[in-house]
Amino acid sequence: MTKPVVVVSNQPDRVRDIASCLGPGFNAIPLDPDAQSAPDTGNAVMMVVDVDLSDRKMIDCLRQDVLAAHGHLPSVFVTDDHRRLDVVQSNALGASKTVSRRQAVGRLRQIAEAYAQTAGLADPIVACDVAIERAAALNTELFAAVANAEPLPREQIQQCGQYISDALRQDGISTFLREVKRHHSYTHRHSICVTGLAVAFGLNCGMQAGDVQRLATGALMHDIGKARIDLEILDKPDALSPSERAEMQRHPGYGSEILLADAQFESEVVDMARQHHEYLDGSGYPDGLSDHQLSDLVRIMTIVDIYSALIDRRSYKTAIPRATAYQMMQRMHGKIDMPFLKAFEPIALQEN
Ligand SMILES: [Fe+2]
Ligand SMILES: [Fe+2]
Repeated sequence: MTKPVVVVSNQPDRVRDIASCLGPGFNAIPLDPDAQSAPDTGNAVMMVVDVDLSDRKMIDCLRQDVLAAHGHLPSVFVTDDHRRLDVVQSNALGASKTVSRRQAVGRLRQIAEAYAQTAGLADPIVACDVAIERAAALNTELFAAVANAEPLPREQIQQCGQYISDALRQDGISTFLREVKRHHSYTHRHSICVTGLAVAFGLNCGMQAGDVQRLATGALMHDIGKARIDLEILDKPDALSPSERAEMQRHPGYGSEILLADAQFESEVVDMARQHHEYLDGSGYPDGLSDHQLSDLVRIMTIVDIYSALIDRRSYKTAIPRATAYQMMQRMHGKIDMPFLKAFEPIALQEN
């Protein structure tokens, strides 16, 4: 699919030159500043401006008509090699970048490709889709690695955390949660959903990049122990029997065993896998830990894990609306960290 680039010039030969600099994959849309009618520039990746920047009338025309109507597009001004004032004038007009005519071949295409990528990521569906697809593929790979006793793909786990973090910065948590709902496997959907919520929480609190990364890795791995649970129990459409529940509740222990055996995960990540079902009052599992024994990252993981389970559908229950789920958690005094729950409110209740 060709990507449109607006080329602002009153000289057809310059439009042709720029079209050939852009090369295949880009479609140059001429926009003559002197003409009365303007072409449709919707979905354009950027605008290349190649006009006589020493012409006062042209500058007025650019400012009043072209830039006023299309100023939302990144603008690359082509400057003449021997006229240094062109660069000054371009910057005064708000150029995103300037490129000298000599460098235009090769450089313009490079810039257009970079803007096209940014524009692609700015599309909500694209950014979230990419992150969610990667996370789903990673989950499948993680479960297979555990089944085959192979090392876990550490680099892909980190990359996936980065993709999710980028998608959330671009699109926000609500778009992310909407898109993740389309996944059929609850186990994968839950892991992706928990990761999105944990990263959104970290970003919203202004957490340092290292902690956001640890939170993302911890979230992606928090239920890895489920890879050792029999599929008949894991995917059972009905509520679990007491013995099945007991087996299911072994997943935090299995998870920490898997991560410790791999020897490449930080202790915080192992803790998030082992302790995310613990409660501050000691009533959780598997170790009955309480209060000061539970780190901040574990407390956050517990909150996003519970919220994620509440807002998701299961074969035996419908999805609970986000605001209701948050209210239900406000009644969990003594069990979960209330200051963190309060800090989670903007994420839990964010509509867009
Ligand atoms: Fe869990
Ligand atoms: Fe979970």
